[in-house]
Amino acid sequence: MIPREELLTLAREVARQAYCPYSHFRVGAAVLAGGKTYVGVNIEISSYGLTLCAERSALAAAISAGAGPITQIAVAFIDASQEAPIQERTPCGACRQWLADLAPNATIYLDGDMRDFTIEELLPYAFGHQAKST
Ligand code: THU
Repeated sequence: MIPREELLTLAREVARQAYCPYSHFRVGAAVLAGGKTYVGVNIEISSYGLTLCAERSALAAAISAGAGPITQIAVAFIDASQEAPIQERTPCGACRQWLADLAPNATIYLDGDMRDFTIEELLPYAFGHQAKST
């Protein structure tokens, strides 16, 4: 476990590296997995629908590193205004499914919101499929 504010600070810092020339909406995510932190940013490409969100980027980094279970994740939407409703500072549907599959027990922190979320709260009745061992 690391303090929520520490993970949120990492997410805010990495968000500055976001590659978002189309939306100019920078997002950063930081996860704690197996005692180490991994970060990700949103990456937009010219075919907009193929954009990768910060959360999936960070989850992919942790999985690629062979990290242990993901226990905490922080997301920072640094271009959302302070007064923006929660809808502008919360993971999209695709990222929620990734979280449900890859970080089902993680505590989720959203910058600007004091609550600690679980994925069950953000994505009730998530689809799931028993993974087969490889
Ligand atoms: N974005 C994320 O990185 N995470 C989310 O959960 C929601 C949206 C990005 C995608 C796109 O680059 C930009 O925010 C505007 O939608």
